[in-house]
Amino acid sequence: MSRALPVRSSLPAPLPLEELVRRVDRQRLPHHVAIIMDGNGRWARQRGLPRVSGHREGAESAREVIAQAAELGIKALTLFAFSVENWRRPQEEIDTLMDLLVRHIRKELPTLLRHKIRVRAIGAIDALPLAVRRWVRKAEEESRRGHGLLLNVALNYGGRSDILEAVRTLLREVQTGKLHPEKLDEPRFASALQTAGLPDPDLLIRTSGEHRVSNFLLWQLAYTELYFTDTLWPDFRRREFLLALLDYQQRERRFGLTGEQVQGGRPA
Ligand code: IPE
Ligand code: IPE
Ligand code: MG
Repeated sequence: MSRALPVRSSLPAPLPLEELVRRVDRQRLPHHVAIIMDGNGRWARQRGLPRVSGHREGAESAREVIAQAAELGIKALTLFAFSVENWRRPQEEIDTLMDLLVRHIRKELPTLLRHKIRVRAIGAIDALPLAVRRWVRKAEEESRRGHGLLLNVALNYGGRSDILEAVRTLLREVQTGKLHPEKLDEPRFASALQTAGLPDPDLLIRTSGEHRVSNFLLWQLAYTELYFTDTLWPDFRRREFLLALLDYQQRERRFGLTGEQVQGGRPA
Protein backbone atom coordinates (compact mmCIF):
# COMPACT_ATOMS: atom_id res chain seq x y z
CA MET A 1 0.00 0.00 0.00
CA SER A 2 2.57 2.53 1.05
CA ARG A 3 5.50 3.23 -1.18
CA ALA A 4 9.04 3.32 0.09
CA LEU A 5 10.09 6.72 1.40
CA PRO A 6 12.71 8.45 -0.73
CA VAL A 7 16.23 7.89 0.50
CA ARG A 8 17.70 10.72 2.50
CA SER A 9 20.29 11.66 -0.11
CA SER A 10 17.53 12.53 -2.56
CA LEU A 11 16.18 15.28 -0.27
CA PRO A 12 16.76 18.78 -1.63
CA ALA A 13 19.69 20.62 -0.10
CA PRO A 14 18.63 23.16 2.54
CA LEU A 15 18.11 26.63 1.15
CA PRO A 16 20.98 29.04 1.67
CA LEU A 17 20.41 31.67 4.33
CA GLU A 18 20.27 34.54 1.82
CA GLU A 19 17.48 32.75 -0.04
CA LEU A 20 15.47 32.39 3.16
CA VAL A 21 15.97 36.10 3.91
CA ARG A 22 14.83 36.89 0.37
CA ARG A 23 11.66 34.84 0.80
CA VAL A 24 10.50 36.79 3.85
CA ASP A 25 7.73 39.18 2.82
CA ARG A 26 8.72 42.55 4.33
CA GLN A 27 5.13 43.77 4.05
CA ARG A 28 3.85 40.97 6.25
CA LEU A 29 6.38 40.88 9.05
CA PRO A 30 5.07 40.25 12.54
CA HIS A 31 5.29 43.52 14.48
CA HIS A 32 6.07 41.74 17.70
CA VAL A 33 7.72 38.35 18.14
CA ALA A 34 7.95 36.70 21.57
CA ILE A 35 10.23 33.76 22.28
CA ILE A 36 10.37 31.17 25.06
CA MET A 37 14.02 30.22 24.76
CA ASP A 38 13.95 26.66 26.07
CA GLY A 39 16.18 23.60 25.93
CA ASN A 40 19.61 24.85 27.02
CA GLY A 41 19.93 22.18 29.68
CA ARG A 42 19.02 19.33 27.33
CA TRP A 43 21.41 20.65 24.68
CA ALA A 44 24.23 20.46 27.22
CA ARG A 45 23.18 17.06 28.57
CA GLN A 46 23.17 15.58 25.06
CA ARG A 47 26.82 16.56 24.83
CA GLY A 48 27.78 15.44 28.32
CA LEU A 49 28.40 19.08 29.27
CA PRO A 50 27.26 21.01 32.36
CA ARG A 51 23.93 22.87 31.97
CA VAL A 52 25.74 26.19 32.07
CA SER A 53 27.42 25.53 28.73
CA GLY A 54 23.93 25.20 27.27
CA HIS A 55 23.06 28.63 28.66
CA ARG A 56 26.29 30.05 27.24
CA GLU A 57 25.55 28.65 23.80
CA GLY A 58 21.95 29.88 24.12
CA ALA A 59 23.23 33.42 24.57
CA GLU A 60 24.77 33.15 21.10
CA SER A 61 21.37 32.14 19.69
CA ALA A 62 19.84 35.20 21.31
CA ARG A 63 22.53 37.36 19.69
CA GLU A 64 21.81 35.93 16.23
CA VAL A 65 18.04 36.19 16.54
CA ILE A 66 18.24 39.79 17.80
CA ALA A 67 20.53 40.71 14.87
CA GLN A 68 18.23 39.03 12.35
CA ALA A 69 15.11 40.67 13.78
CA ALA A 70 16.79 44.08 13.69
CA GLU A 71 18.03 43.58 10.12
CA LEU A 72 14.57 42.61 8.90
CA GLY A 73 12.99 45.62 10.55
CA ILE A 74 10.82 43.77 13.07
CA LYS A 75 9.53 46.33 15.58
CA ALA A 76 9.63 44.37 18.83
CA LEU A 77 11.18 41.18 20.15
CA THR A 78 10.41 39.84 23.63
CA LEU A 79 12.77 37.20 24.98
CA PHE A 80 11.85 35.12 28.03
CA ALA A 81 15.16 34.89 29.86
CA PHE A 82 14.16 34.03 33.44
CA SER A 83 10.75 33.21 34.89
CA VAL A 84 9.48 33.75 38.43
CA GLU A 85 9.39 29.95 38.65
CA ASN A 86 13.06 29.61 37.70
CA TRP A 87 14.05 30.61 41.27
CA ARG A 88 13.24 27.02 42.17
CA ARG A 89 16.31 25.78 40.31
CA PRO A 90 19.56 24.89 42.10
CA GLN A 91 21.18 28.05 43.50
CA GLU A 92 24.35 27.38 41.56
CA GLU A 93 22.51 27.40 38.24
CA ILE A 94 20.68 30.62 39.19
CA ASP A 95 23.95 32.30 40.12
CA THR A 96 25.57 31.28 36.84
CA LEU A 97 22.55 32.46 34.87
CA MET A 98 22.64 35.86 36.57
CA ASP A 99 26.35 36.08 35.99
CA LEU A 100 25.93 35.20 32.31
CA LEU A 101 23.23 37.83 31.96
CA VAL A 102 25.46 40.57 33.31
CA ARG A 103 28.35 39.49 31.13
CA HIS A 104 26.16 39.30 28.08
CA ILE A 105 24.56 42.73 28.51
CA ARG A 106 27.96 44.22 29.21
CA LYS A 107 29.53 42.70 26.13
CA GLU A 108 26.60 43.34 23.77
CA LEU A 109 25.51 46.81 24.87
CA PRO A 110 27.86 48.71 22.49
CA THR A 111 26.60 46.64 19.54
CA LEU A 112 22.97 47.15 20.58
CA LEU A 113 23.55 50.90 20.79
CA ARG A 114 25.31 50.97 17.43
CA HIS A 115 22.28 49.34 15.84
CA LYS A 116 19.86 51.74 17.58
CA ILE A 117 18.22 48.89 19.44
CA ARG A 118 16.16 49.99 22.43
CA VAL A 119 16.37 47.71 25.43
CA ARG A 120 13.54 47.38 27.89
CA ALA A 121 13.03 44.88 30.70
CA ILE A 122 9.78 43.44 32.02
CA GLY A 123 9.42 41.45 35.23
CA ALA A 124 10.34 42.13 38.83
CA ILE A 125 13.71 43.68 38.03
CA ASP A 126 14.14 45.21 41.46
CA ALA A 127 14.18 41.75 43.03
CA LEU A 128 17.18 40.68 40.93
CA PRO A 129 20.77 40.71 42.20
CA LEU A 130 22.32 44.19 42.28
CA ALA A 131 24.71 43.67 39.35
CA VAL A 132 21.89 42.46 37.08
CA ARG A 133 19.64 45.34 38.14
CA ARG A 134 22.42 47.86 37.45
CA TRP A 135 23.25 46.52 34.01
CA VAL A 136 19.62 46.19 33.00
CA ARG A 137 18.89 49.78 34.05
CA LYS A 138 22.07 50.99 32.34
CA ALA A 139 21.11 49.25 29.11
CA GLU A 140 17.60 50.73 29.27
CA GLU A 141 18.90 54.19 30.03
CA GLU A 142 21.66 54.29 27.41
CA SER A 143 19.49 52.82 24.66
CA ARG A 144 16.37 54.87 25.37
CA ARG A 145 16.73 56.95 22.22
CA GLY A 146 17.05 53.89 19.98
CA HIS A 147 14.45 53.90 17.24
CA GLY A 148 15.26 50.49 15.76
CA LEU A 149 14.18 47.17 17.21
CA LEU A 150 12.65 47.22 20.68
CA LEU A 151 14.34 44.41 22.58
CA ASN A 152 12.15 43.49 25.49
CA VAL A 153 13.78 41.14 27.97
CA ALA A 154 11.52 39.25 30.36
CA LEU A 155 13.50 38.72 33.54
CA ASN A 156 11.97 37.41 36.74
CA TYR A 157 8.74 37.64 34.77
CA GLY A 158 5.46 35.83 35.36
CA GLY A 159 2.27 36.38 33.37
CA ARG A 160 0.04 35.97 36.42
CA SER A 161 2.00 38.45 38.52
CA ASP A 162 1.91 40.88 35.59
CA ILE A 163 -1.90 40.65 35.61
CA LEU A 164 -2.14 40.83 39.42
CA GLU A 165 0.08 43.91 39.57
CA ALA A 166 -2.08 45.58 36.91
CA VAL A 167 -5.20 44.80 38.95
CA ARG A 168 -3.56 46.32 42.02
CA THR A 169 -2.62 49.49 40.14
CA LEU A 170 -6.12 49.85 38.71
CA LEU A 171 -7.78 49.21 42.08
CA ARG A 172 -5.71 52.00 43.58
CA GLU A 173 -6.88 54.31 40.80
CA VAL A 174 -10.48 53.35 41.53
CA GLN A 175 -9.91 54.00 45.24
CA THR A 176 -8.54 57.47 44.60
CA GLY A 177 -11.35 58.23 42.16
CA LYS A 178 -9.02 58.42 39.15
CA LEU A 179 -10.78 55.55 37.41
CA HIS A 180 -14.43 54.59 37.22
CA PRO A 181 -14.96 50.81 37.09
CA GLU A 182 -17.29 51.22 34.08
CA LYS A 183 -14.50 52.98 32.20
CA LEU A 184 -12.19 50.00 32.53
CA ASP A 185 -11.92 48.42 29.08
CA GLU A 186 -9.35 46.13 27.46
CA PRO A 187 -7.00 48.86 26.19
CA ARG A 188 -7.01 50.52 29.63
CA PHE A 189 -6.26 47.18 31.29
CA ALA A 190 -3.47 46.45 28.80
CA SER A 191 -1.91 49.81 29.56
CA ALA A 192 -1.50 48.76 33.20
CA LEU A 193 0.51 45.67 32.20
CA GLN A 194 4.28 45.73 31.94
CA THR A 195 4.04 45.53 28.16
CA ALA A 196 2.16 48.85 28.03
CA GLY A 197 2.62 50.56 24.68
CA LEU A 198 3.66 47.36 22.90
CA PRO A 199 1.32 45.63 20.46
CA ASP A 200 0.40 42.07 21.51
CA PRO A 201 2.79 39.49 20.05
CA ASP A 202 1.84 38.36 16.54
CA LEU A 203 4.05 35.32 16.85
CA LEU A 204 5.17 33.23 19.83
CA ILE A 205 8.05 30.82 19.30
CA ARG A 206 8.85 28.07 21.79
CA THR A 207 11.84 25.84 21.24
CA SER A 208 12.73 22.39 22.59
CA GLY A 209 9.51 20.52 21.83
CA GLU A 210 7.54 21.71 24.85
CA HIS A 211 3.99 22.74 24.06
CA ARG A 212 3.14 25.08 26.89
CA VAL A 213 3.12 28.76 27.73
CA SER A 214 4.83 28.43 31.15
CA ASN A 215 3.28 31.57 32.64
CA PHE A 216 4.63 33.85 29.90
CA LEU A 217 2.54 36.74 28.50
CA LEU A 218 -0.87 35.36 29.48
CA TRP A 219 -3.10 38.31 28.64
CA GLN A 220 -1.03 39.40 25.66
CA LEU A 221 -1.07 36.02 23.88
CA ALA A 222 -4.86 35.98 23.38
CA TYR A 223 -4.62 36.00 19.56
CA THR A 224 -0.97 35.22 18.99
CA GLU A 225 0.10 32.65 16.39
CA LEU A 226 1.98 29.84 18.15
CA TYR A 227 5.04 28.18 16.65
CA PHE A 228 6.59 25.15 18.31
CA THR A 229 9.81 23.53 17.20
CA ASP A 230 11.81 20.58 18.53
CA THR A 231 15.04 22.50 17.95
CA LEU A 232 16.77 23.22 21.26
CA TRP A 233 17.43 26.90 21.90
CA PRO A 234 21.25 26.75 21.46
CA ASP A 235 20.61 25.35 17.95
CA PHE A 236 17.98 27.96 17.12
CA ARG A 237 19.94 30.40 14.98
CA ARG A 238 19.18 32.75 12.07
CA ARG A 239 18.02 29.90 9.86
CA GLU A 240 15.49 28.54 12.36
CA PHE A 241 14.22 32.05 13.08
CA LEU A 242 13.69 32.72 9.37
CA LEU A 243 11.85 29.39 9.02
CA ALA A 244 9.53 30.40 11.87
CA LEU A 245 8.83 33.74 10.17
CA LEU A 246 8.11 32.02 6.84
CA ASP A 247 5.76 29.60 8.59
CA TYR A 248 3.97 32.54 10.22
CA GLN A 249 3.58 34.22 6.84
CA GLN A 250 1.73 31.16 5.51
CA ARG A 251 -0.96 31.46 8.12
CA GLU A 252 -4.33 33.09 7.88
CA ARG A 253 -5.20 35.11 10.96
CA ARG A 254 -8.95 35.27 11.39
CA PHE A 255 -9.65 36.99 14.73
CA GLY A 256 -13.05 35.31 14.86
CA LEU A 257 -14.03 36.09 11.26
CA THR A 258 -14.72 33.53 8.55
CA GLY A 259 -12.06 32.65 6.00
CA GLU A 260 -14.15 34.34 3.28
CA GLN A 261 -14.33 37.56 5.24
CA VAL A 262 -10.59 37.60 5.76
CA GLN A 263 -9.79 36.85 2.13
CA GLY A 264 -12.24 39.49 0.96
CA GLY A 265 -10.22 42.18 2.66
CA ARG A 266 -10.47 43.79 6.05
CA PRO A 267 -13.91 43.86 7.70
CA ALA A 268 -15.78 47.13 7.95
C1 IPE B 1 15.98 27.61 29.04
O1 IPE B 1 16.61 26.37 29.03
C2 IPE B 1 16.72 28.62 29.88
C3 IPE B 1 15.99 29.04 31.09
C4 IPE B 1 14.85 28.59 31.48
C5 IPE B 1 16.67 30.02 31.92
P1 IPE B 1 16.41 25.33 30.21
O2 IPE B 1 17.48 25.59 31.24
O3 IPE B 1 15.04 25.36 30.71
O4 IPE B 1 16.72 23.97 29.46
P2 IPE B 1 15.98 22.58 29.66
O5 IPE B 1 14.52 22.83 29.52
O6 IPE B 1 16.36 22.11 31.02
O7 IPE B 1 16.54 21.73 28.57
C1 IPE C 1 10.40 28.84 30.51
O1 IPE C 1 11.26 27.75 30.45
C2 IPE C 1 11.11 30.03 31.07
C3 IPE C 1 12.20 30.56 30.25
C4 IPE C 1 12.51 30.20 29.04
C5 IPE C 1 12.95 31.62 30.86
P1 IPE C 1 11.26 26.64 31.59
O2 IPE C 1 12.21 25.61 31.17
O3 IPE C 1 11.51 27.28 32.91
O4 IPE C 1 9.75 26.12 31.55
P2 IPE C 1 9.09 24.81 32.13
O5 IPE C 1 9.41 24.78 33.58
O6 IPE C 1 9.68 23.66 31.42
O7 IPE C 1 7.64 24.97 31.86
MG1 MG D 1 13.35 24.34 30.20
